[in-house]
Amino acid sequence: MYDFTFHIPTRINFGRGAISHLSELAESGNKALLVYGGGSIKRNGIYDEALRILGEAGVEVTELSGVEPNPRIQTVRRGVELCKEQGIQMVLAIGGGSTIDASKVIAAGALYDGDPWDLVLDSSKAVRALPIYSVLTLAATGSEMDCFAVISDMTKNEKWGTGAPCMVPTMSVLDPTYTFSVSRRQTAAGTADMMSHTFENYFTREKGADVQKEFCEGLLRTMVKNGPVALAHPDDYDARANLMWAASHAINGLVGAGSANAWCVHPMEHELSAFYDITHGEGLAILTPAWMEHVLSVDTVADFARYGRRVWGIQGLDDFAVAHEAIAKTREFFFQTMGMPANLRAVGITDDKNFEVMAQKAADGSKGSYVPLTKDDIVEIYRAAF
Ligand code: NZQ
Ligand code: ZN
Repeated sequence: MYDFTFHIPTRINFGRGAISHLSELAESGNKALLVYGGGSIKRNGIYDEALRILGEAGVEVTELSGVEPNPRIQTVRRGVELCKEQGIQMVLAIGGGSTIDASKVIAAGALYDGDPWDLVLDSSKAVRALPIYSVLTLAATGSEMDCFAVISDMTKNEKWGTGAPCMVPTMSVLDPTYTFSVSRRQTAAGTADMMSHTFENYFTREKGADVQKEFCEGLLRTMVKNGPVALAHPDDYDARANLMWAASHAINGLVGAGSANAWCVHPMEHELSAFYDITHGEGLAILTPAWMEHVLSVDTVADFARYGRRVWGIQGLDDFAVAHEAIAKTREFFFQTMGMPANLRAVGITDDKNFEVMAQKAADGSKGSYVPLTKDDIVEIYRAAF
């Protein structure tokens, strides 16, 4: 097991009615920036409830709405300006990963003298941030309990992740009932995203990390069990609750610390989103089986066979046969059980003209991964997924 420091300072308030904990924002002052997306929080009543609780706690609210899926740096800049102009003391994100990610960089940008894009390109510049609070409405990214944020500049076809200790939320509200209104499409994409976070940690060259490996297998079985239940019964509380809590643990360090190598499917997907603005979880679902097939070899077969046996319950003594069946099961789960788009054409990517440029950028981002990938490897994976 590698050496590590594990510290998650986020207070999690989980369950029905947990939004009452928004009164705790008063510990950070009385002027909050409320950040949200395209309006789902108004349709499902969370917005009114949050404003009521904040009002009672004496917290004054300035709003920044319209955070895009794949949040843009331009929106982050507007948020930073509001914080500086209005003397904002804390940032409250209500929404999915995009809203929380934008809020993190806004909170750091508020205490930074330069352009917040600097904080995206160089995380070491993010040393201070306003306190960040979140109310999670979509189980997927784990942003509610991690230090990461992913921000895009679509004018340059760039989407980069950043992360710093100061960007970990102080407190997050996780009420599974808030995810009842998440669409089938986003429920499936969220499940694929949390599974991919688990895979990125699970497929590692570090062979001595039993605890992390067993946690990963438990998380994956939980996701495989509950994703389809949430699709069939959007208001099944336990399915939504299990997905929500599993997603947080897939990326908060629990299964990565001491075990993980550099990630590699995520850098490939971030290029797809940067060039084509596709949904993150859909890109991951499309790339994952193609990546698994590409990296399966005599060196890796034992890992994929273990995945097949422990997660999918596949029987058999031949490691290669089990590994191939495990990849087929993964494919079937995403594209049939969860009804996700099965290839890049299905998400509107109709030509391969950017693959070389994207692959070069993704190769730089995935150095030191489970199986190091060259630009040519990644072009092959994009083509296989096309
Ligand atoms: O904008 P609104 O109106 O709120 O609608 C959103 C959006 O259209 C909707 N939605 C959210 N909660 C809902 C809901 N609709 C109905 N009911 C609800 N309760 O869902 C749509 C997608 O929201 P978004 O926040 O974009 O989704 P997600 O949580 O999947 O976040 C994706 C972003 O997170 C980044 C991705 O790259 C992408 O930009 N990631 C962040 C990570 C992190 N911070 O650690 C890691 C991930 O790997 C990922 O890269
Ligand atoms: Zn992800």
